[in-house]
Amino acid sequence: MPSSMPNETKSYYITTPIYYVNDVPHIGHAYTSLACDMLARFKRLDGFDVRFLTGTDEHGQKVEKAAIAADKSPQEFVDQISKNFRDLATFTKLTNDDFIRTTEPRHIKAAQHLWQMLIDNGHIYLGSYAGWYAVRDEAFYPESELIDGKAPTGAPVEWVTEPSYFFRLSAFQEKLLQFYKEHPQFIAPESRRNEVMRFVEGGLHDLSVSRTSFKWGVPVPGNPDHIMYVWLDALTNYISAIGYPDALQNNYWENSLHVVGKDILRFHAVYWPAFLMAANLPIPQKVFAHGWWTNEGVKMSKSLGNALDPIDLINTYGLDPIRYFLLREIPFGNDGDFSKSSLITRMNSDLANNYGNLVQRVLSFINKVCDAKVPKSGNILPADQALLDSVDLLDTLRRHIDNCALNKVCETLWSAIAEANRYIDEHKPWSLKTSDPIRMNTILYVLAELIRKVAILTQPLVPEASQKILDQLAVSPEHRQFKDLDFALIEGSDLPIPFGVFPRFEEAK
Ligand code: MSP
Repeated sequence: MPSSMPNETKSYYITTPIYYVNDVPHIGHAYTSLACDMLARFKRLDGFDVRFLTGTDEHGQKVEKAAIAADKSPQEFVDQISKNFRDLATFTKLTNDDFIRTTEPRHIKAAQHLWQMLIDNGHIYLGSYAGWYAVRDEAFYPESELIDGKAPTGAPVEWVTEPSYFFRLSAFQEKLLQFYKEHPQFIAPESRRNEVMRFVEGGLHDLSVSRTSFKWGVPVPGNPDHIMYVWLDALTNYISAIGYPDALQNNYWENSLHVVGKDILRFHAVYWPAFLMAANLPIPQKVFAHGWWTNEGVKMSKSLGNALDPIDLINTYGLDPIRYFLLREIPFGNDGDFSKSSLITRMNSDLANNYGNLVQRVLSFINKVCDAKVPKSGNILPADQALLDSVDLLDTLRRHIDNCALNKVCETLWSAIAEANRYIDEHKPWSLKTSDPIRMNTILYVLAELIRKVAILTQPLVPEASQKILDQLAVSPEHRQFKDLDFALIEGSDLPIPFGVFPRFEEAK
């Protein structure tokens, strides 16, 4: 299919994890959200009917403890912290279509309905739990998984004995393995898929899915002494936001992607599909686990006080540069280190020198020598056509997007930018100003047209700068979709005065 052909409208559902409201947002949260935002923007520009969901996970012992420590009622506390996450979404210009809170009636109704389905289908029974629990992870750990008396994540554990409902997770071991085999795309990256399969092959224990020793949660239908285990409650958000228990809306579920950090993959790739199977609900399309950031080589933690604040970073460096750095610096799925010097290098080389400089030199030259109008294309030579063809990247980018290879999207686009910079150096349009102005116009036209295409394609990654570039080319806002890539600039139309979009970052002395 030629890349310009419109897709028939297809749905695309993308979710971030819902964030715990026990603490202020940090760069790890912003990372997941910005990656999802890039995917959502790409799919919208590609003509999909997109639903992008984020929100907050507001129940559980961890949140209750944080509320007590802050001397607030849990409701008062979660209202305040949830607002911080909503404000961060606004500040980072996320294009989420919905923001779900697990304390909302629509969610509580859905979670209780799911519970009832699990009961009705005979997958939950009442027993009593005696074992280790890590409040920080909101997870139960068998003795065999503990390392030096702590959870494998390093979280402290406490011994819990209480009446509890159990979900028959053990009965789903074979069904899950069968499902992973039949749906190899379900868990990505591949290495994570192998990890999950090994974990399930190792045997699954029934899962305690209710607590009685604290109150902050969704009451178990018919037995309100129990509240639902926070992960069963939280995972349901993905369907409560698209209509559950009524019909799931707009075929979103058939093309759904949960983006999560590697630490919470087990909940999404083992427990969640098992709950869904047990309720006779379909399984989402894909779960992608990304890696973790360290700060200048050190793990970020509350106790070290070194968690990076996304608002500070964006105020200092700008939103597009932070987006670009996070999504370009490491292959999505790997761990990475956030260092100021690598960020500044990326800003000054990739953004300012490569992309910014290409746009700036072409547009300011056109402004000067072409009377601030789109130049005439004239006679397009094979070398010109080759440059224009080199930016026919949509199919390649679609493939990378569907593989969540966000860094490859960046690399692909930047190789087109490098190609254009080489073309300028080779064809030296400024040297033709008096000797061959017609040829000079063709070269500038080709470059302007290439910049238009590149800027349409960089919108999901660096949306603000791309918009500014398209404004400077007088491309109307209705002609910035991927289906518009094959339209061309209108020769002779007026262009506004150009300005720089990617300033170099100079550190204050
Ligand atoms: N509430 C659960 C998710 C429930 S989804 C049904 C939760 N919340 S969280 O706030 O603790 O974490 C949210 C996300 O932030 C996770 O995907 C986690 O991996 C991510 N990150 C937290 N610290 C991170 C880094 N240092 N680096 C990258 N991502 C990190 O888990």
